[in-house]
Amino acid sequence: MKIIEKFLTQKSFISQVLLKFLKKWKYFKISTEVKLNLNTKPPYAYCMYHSALLAKKLNIKKISVLEFGVAGGNGIVQIEKIAEKIINELGIQIEIYGFTLKDGLQNPVDFRDLPYWWNFGLYPTLTDDLDTKIKKTTKIIYGDVKDTTKTFFKQYNPAPIGVIFNDLDYFSSTLNSFEIFNNEDHFYLPRIFCYFDDIVGTEKEMFNEFTGELMAINKFNENNDQKKICLNRNLIPNSRENWRYQIYYYHNFNHKNYNDYIGDGAQKEIEDELKLKD
Ligand SMILES: C[S@@+](CC[C@H](N)C(=O)[O-])C[C@H]1O[C@@H](n2cnc3c(N)ncnc32)[C@H](O)[C@@H]1O
Repeated sequence: MKIIEKFLTQKSFISQVLLKFLKKWKYFKISTEVKLNLNTKPPYAYCMYHSALLAKKLNIKKISVLEFGVAGGNGIVQIEKIAEKIINELGIQIEIYGFTLKDGLQNPVDFRDLPYWWNFGLYPTLTDDLDTKIKKTTKIIYGDVKDTTKTFFKQYNPAPIGVIFNDLDYFSSTLNSFEIFNNEDHFYLPRIFCYFDDIVGTEKEMFNEFTGELMAINKFNENNDQKKICLNRNLIPNSRENWRYQIYYYHNFNHKNYNDYIGDGAQKEIEDELKLKD
């Protein structure tokens, strides 16, 4: 596996062609897809796979995966496919919830919602069309996240949340979505994998710490002492993943299981890997 991985990370023509071919092959296990970066939606596969591993360590059999911002359903369809692979390989069950507005983006509240880039009515959801694409077990929750994050727990009694994909675009909506973190411990893994879609972007968006999703993360951290959303640092040196600045970890330091030891054997694995690199 190590040799294949090394070969595929090369920029040579042959390795790039092989990579393209392998990405089309649907029958790899999820562990292989994550390791070799082969999934159609690599950050989604990464977050869901590692969250399922964490759940397994904590002896939790079922987790919830949330997507904030569903639009036409491209993301949620991939979430379903990844979930199937995780159930098959790791035996962890997955509940899927999508939060969205039927009419797409609302009017930006102020400059922090980047009105120079986002606009009213972008990314609506055609509900009938979405219904034909997704499974009956996947729940789409229509309405503003500032309200639906409050009613969600009572309505669905979800399995512990292990992953949140955030694609709400605006500062205001993203900050409101963090209301999801305000419930009892049994609704969450002690650490949650989070993905933020709109924090890298291009020269047109000019995403930055003072507007948009990055600003929402900063505000949340400012407002909370014991709950923090922090950049996943272990991906940064890995230049193969161009989404490496988009994964964050949500930590709840007061969570009843935050200090549960999950290191069994893992330290030795890391040590052995380091020795091989020497
Ligand atoms: C960029 S799109 C999401 C794209 C989707 N993740 C995908 O993979 O195709 C942004 C979505 O966020 C939803 N949205 C924006 N603000 C919202 C809010 N306050 N509450 C709920 N949904 C919201 C919009 O309806 C829109 O569908």
